[in-house]
Amino acid sequence: MSVSKVSGMPNVEFVPLGLSGDVKRGVTIISAANRAGVPIGQSCNGDGICGWCKVKVLRGMENLSPPTALERRLIASCAFAPDERAACLAKITGDITVTTGYW
Ligand code: FES
Repeated sequence: MSVSKVSGMPNVEFVPLGLSGDVKRGVTIISAANRAGVPIGQSCNGDGICGWCKVKVLRGMENLSPPTALERRLIASCAFAPDERAACLAKITGDITVTTGYW
């Protein structure tokens, strides 16, 4: 696991937007995005139902919490690729870089 050398907190990079931010360990990707002013689609308010919050993890998949049973069900029902996670459910434990098709 790697973390920002400047703050000691995990860093989240949103590409190709050129936005990033340091976050507390354990916050979700969607919370980090909201804090950085990055829009992420959602319709279920983070209940793990809609799948609209899907993001592609370009770097740091090992720095996310393992998928819960709820996220595993969502991943299967929405046919997520192996490098995709639900931003409302995946919690950040180290540096990551994520993207979507609409940024
Ligand atoms: S916001 Fe609906 S599954 Fe993440």
